[in-house]
Amino acid sequence: MIRRHLAPALAGAALLLALGTNARAQEGGQLNIICSVQAEWCNMIQTVYGRTTGVKVNMSLKGSGEALAQLIAEKANPKTDIWFGGTGDPHLQAAELGLTLEYKSPSLPQLHAWAQQQAQQSGYKTVGIYSGPLGFGYNTELLAKKKLPVPRSWADLLKPIYKNEIQVANPASSGTAYTMIATLVQLWGEDKAFDYLKALHKNIQTYTRSGTGPIKAVARGEASVSISFVHDGPGEALQGFPVATITPSEGTGAEIGSMSIIKGARNLEAAKKFYEWALTAPAQELGAAAKQFQVPSNKSAKVDPHVPDFKKIKFIDYDYAKYGASAERKRLIGKWEKDVNSLPR
Ligand code: G6P
Repeated sequence: MIRRHLAPALAGAALLLALGTNARAQEGGQLNIICSVQAEWCNMIQTVYGRTTGVKVNMSLKGSGEALAQLIAEKANPKTDIWFGGTGDPHLQAAELGLTLEYKSPSLPQLHAWAQQQAQQSGYKTVGIYSGPLGFGYNTELLAKKKLPVPRSWADLLKPIYKNEIQVANPASSGTAYTMIATLVQLWGEDKAFDYLKALHKNIQTYTRSGTGPIKAVARGEASVSISFVHDGPGEALQGFPVATITPSEGTGAEIGSMSIIKGARNLEAAKKFYEWALTAPAQELGAAAKQFQVPSNKSAKVDPHVPDFKKIKFIDYDYAKYGASAERKRLIGKWEKDVNSLPR
């Protein structure tokens, strides 16, 4: 009896709530975002930004390479307003291809030099929002069980003991994997880097679509070692998985995770407001709140203790302009497909 009375009342309340949300959403307008960071962070942004501004945020989650492919496909009729996150190289490529809008934020001086440089290099068509180093993830329990040592260098990954133990993403869809190729080419030159990638291919268990697929597989015991951004490790470890990270002794590269406004965005004013918000310290601190541990680009944003200590890592001097150039990125990915991925394992 009570339930019968309550049900229509609840339905009515739900309807009112829905109407209220819709009215607010209309008030605040809407925003279409392609989000290339991990789902936890994308979801947090969607909820927090939506609730505080009344803007209806539509999120589409895509890896960096896939996001670029979508933006190329919708160039004549863009459906996206903002591209949030993902490695910087494809954002630079999008800038060069005229897919993104020049916008010089008044907040640029609040950002670290590397984030401002990303903006300058693109003619202010993208901006750095975070950074993080490339390295390896490994499953501590699985390595111990299989009596395998922790790999400490790029060279270690070629050892036959790691056959079928390593996962990395496919560079066509994943910015993480492209960062690996660009890093190796810068470390050793192109010929040696591709000889290395061919040898590494023999030890690869699977090439995943997304850059975080490999460390998630390692965390869950499906592979022993991953080539990953090291800031993706602590989030898995905090969930209780036996995963740790290391950076290779020869040296490694770092990404400049970026954000761009799409040229022809239908919700341009809303896009600019979001862009400004995303550059603030409180917005950038949502990353760590969602257990994502990149270095924030805003100098005033708190750096969580789980964020990798850059001072302890040997870095190459990554040439973002060169490896974010459209022709170079396309060429290197094409060469990897043809010379490496086509080989038997
Ligand atoms: C993860 C990392 C980000 C990185 C992104 C790239 O989300 O936490 O720092 O930018 O992967 O993803 P992708 O699938 O393109 O390699």
